[in-house]
Amino acid sequence: MDNIFPVFDSSIPREAKEAKLMQRARVIWFTGLSGSGKTTLASALDRRLFGMGYVSQLLDGDNIRSGINNNLGFSSEDRMENIRRIAEVSKLFLNCGIITICAFISPARSMRQIVRNIVGEDDFYEIYLNTPLDTCESRDVKGLYAKARAGIIKDFTGVNAPYDAPEQARLLIDTSILSVEESVSVLLENILPFIAYRPEND
Ligand code: ADX
Repeated sequence: MDNIFPVFDSSIPREAKEAKLMQRARVIWFTGLSGSGKTTLASALDRRLFGMGYVSQLLDGDNIRSGINNNLGFSSEDRMENIRRIAEVSKLFLNCGIITICAFISPARSMRQIVRNIVGEDDFYEIYLNTPLDTCESRDVKGLYAKARAGIIKDFTGVNAPYDAPEQARLLIDTSILSVEESVSVLLENILPFIAYRPEND
């Protein structure tokens, strides 16, 4: 960090951008096993919010891993770096007044703690998709559980790599019980108060 001089205070303040967008910028963080419904619910939420006049940005594991994080694999070190970079990217969006919707397995509690630290607890909304492993595995949309069971993938979350269930999630959704529409209703009910714009001194 020697000879690096970040300048933050000369830019337009986040509050001014939030006021223009009439929303509070927050990070909505989905964690859960592969196949638990993160991408489906995150993109459905993104679309619903847009339809309601909000501006959000979706960041999703498979997309981010094909771009900014295409040099990272699935060791615990690489997953940690994956999540750290996402948290930093999310923070940039926060400073633009934009709601960031993140869908990452983020399997370790320590990884999610890093996000909390980077983003700030007040702006961080953790949602745990606690869809049971057998449902995720029976969906096996990408055929990865079959490969993990066959030993072709050695570090697959939930099969041969750990997943720590969150203890501090603000919301839990089990997509083996709720449909997409039902889940999005629950999400909106809980998230709208969190992102609602309130003018200063209100
Ligand atoms: S994380 O563990 O670092 O948070 P991330 O959410 O970015 O993972 O990526 C998960 C996606 O990568 C999965 O949805 C799946 O498509 C793919 N994937 C490939 N290999 C693995 C693996 N070993 N474990 C988990 N997901 C994997």
